[in-house]
Amino acid sequence: MQDRIAKGTPVRFTLNNTIIGFIGAGNMANSLIRGLLTKGKPPSTVLASDVDAIKLESLKKETKIETMSNQENVDRADVIVLAIKPQIMKSVCLDLDLSDPSKLVISIAAGITVTQLEKWLDEGGAIVRCMPNTPALIGKGATGMFANKHVRENQRLLAQEIMETVGISVWVESESDIDVVTAVSGSGPAYFFLFIEAMEEAAQELGLSADLARSLIYSTAVGAAELANNGEDSAAELRKKVTSPGGTTQQAIRVFESHDFKNLIHKALTAARNRSIELAKESSN
Ligand SMILES: NC(=O)c1ccc[n+]([C@@H]2O[C@H](COP(=O)([O-])OP(=O)(O)OC[C@H]3O[C@@H](n4cnc5c(N)ncnc54)[C@H](OP(=O)(O)O)[C@@H]3O)[C@@H](O)[C@H]2O)c1
Repeated sequence: MQDRIAKGTPVRFTLNNTIIGFIGAGNMANSLIRGLLTKGKPPSTVLASDVDAIKLESLKKETKIETMSNQENVDRADVIVLAIKPQIMKSVCLDLDLSDPSKLVISIAAGITVTQLEKWLDEGGAIVRCMPNTPALIGKGATGMFANKHVRENQRLLAQEIMETVGISVWVESESDIDVVTAVSGSGPAYFFLFIEAMEEAAQELGLSADLARSLIYSTAVGAAELANNGEDSAAELRKKVTSPGGTTQQAIRVFESHDFKNLIHKALTAARNRSIELAKESSN
């Protein structure tokens, strides 16, 4: 990653004195804005623009941030966060006059590549492409990030600080890894939801009430994730520890394995990765 960071006189920004402008004030921007304010960022240093004037007004009332047009936002912000839907990214970018190369652009739009953004914005501009996920909405997100060669080290740190207000973040070396991040953590919450859904249905068919099944399964999911996240053991080791020979867990694991469970997961993630590549191509003109 280091060799991708442009050398030169660093522009000094710290999170609190940087003006961050959000273009699009929907779900994801709201989470990021509230995450930044919770971390102590002054509301006067956060800007937002959106086509929905009512949404913008209530955001302004609740958070005391400033709201304005997309162009004024771009003119005033040091860091511009593109938080609009991928389908409108091209037209919004082409409408913007972003002529100051010292500004950092962060895109959180799924499937929009750095090359596309460079084409639609300013060729020499610093761009960070992020792939967040829905748990960011409750501050528990996981974001993969990729920086183009114009991003300076202090801008990279800034981008990371911004995304870490809603969870953890990781940098990837190659932009193609963002497609894998999309398949793993971007779409990942849905895989866990599917697993929980299937367990809830099975538990009810085996005789538990919906409420009981729900509370047992949700607590088990959170407990297992925290055990894996906080402990020293790998997931495989933790699984072995709770799988006594001849016991109940082993019977269940045998059923999963007899249906080639790991291969199924591999196929599912590959399909998601491939779709992410296709989506980027579909919006590449
Ligand atoms: N939500 C997630 O969990 C998640 C996860 C990963 C990545 N993302 C990415 O994050 C981005 C935002 O997603 P979101 O869920 O926050 O979407 P969202 O809630 O729909 O927010 C987008 C906002 O942009 C507004 N907008 C539309 N046209 C605009 C324009 N020309 N200028 C300024 N604002 C405009 C929309 O207004 P209208 O509603 O009136 O059109 C809406 O308020 C997407 O690109 C998505 O791919 C989201």
